[in-house]
Amino acid sequence: MTPQDQKKRKTAEAAIEYIKDARVIGVGTGSTVNHFIDCLIDFKIDIEGAVSSSEGTTQRLKEAGISVLDLNDVDEIKVYIDGADEVDPHKQLIKGGGGALTREKIIADACSQFVCIVDESKMVDTLGAFPLPIEVIPMSRSYVARQVMSRFGGQPEWRENFITDNGNQIIDIHNLDITDPIALEKAINDIPGVITVGLFAIKPADIILIASDNEIKVM
Ligand code: 5RP
Repeated sequence: MTPQDQKKRKTAEAAIEYIKDARVIGVGTGSTVNHFIDCLIDFKIDIEGAVSSSEGTTQRLKEAGISVLDLNDVDEIKVYIDGADEVDPHKQLIKGGGGALTREKIIADACSQFVCIVDESKMVDTLGAFPLPIEVIPMSRSYVARQVMSRFGGQPEWRENFITDNGNQIIDIHNLDITDPIALEKAINDIPGVITVGLFAIKPADIILIASDNEIKVM
């Protein structure tokens, strides 16, 4: 395991404490979450099932013998565990590097507590060094890109040869200086054709578990 992978494993292990009383959990997407799924097996966690944020996570959960539940059949998701691409001091996030941002945002909104698991490399003072993903209806891709560039700056790049689990496309906006993440999230949400922007600022994470070499910091 690389040193970064070891930190991902550590933050994933720390998240186990937060799901102890939950019957149904939400499970995000990405390499850090994959460690969390491994922990569910290693710690023999007994849950009724999990709501999954992507086809990739669904497959891994099933391989781990965990029931995957449809959000429509679930009354309450006690805890949602997911990673992030960037985290600021207000627990606001950029997500969507893995392209699962839409289902991730739905579960993050539907859960009672969102526990975000990251290694220390994800911590930033200001969001925007990581390209901001936007899931769009395919016919609106160029229009949304032009709107974002002319109104907020940055350089949009089409994530070519990538189709989301919802059949849509993604543009990544490079070099944005996101000084007001809530305002930007609202404004991008309002552009016709946008399905989801990967800013999680209106509803940030509740808890961040940050792994460094020596400790887990809880924010
Ligand atoms: C996927 C995501 C992931 O949470 C994010 O990309 C972090 O991934 P990783 O844990 O592999 O660094 O938002 O859409």
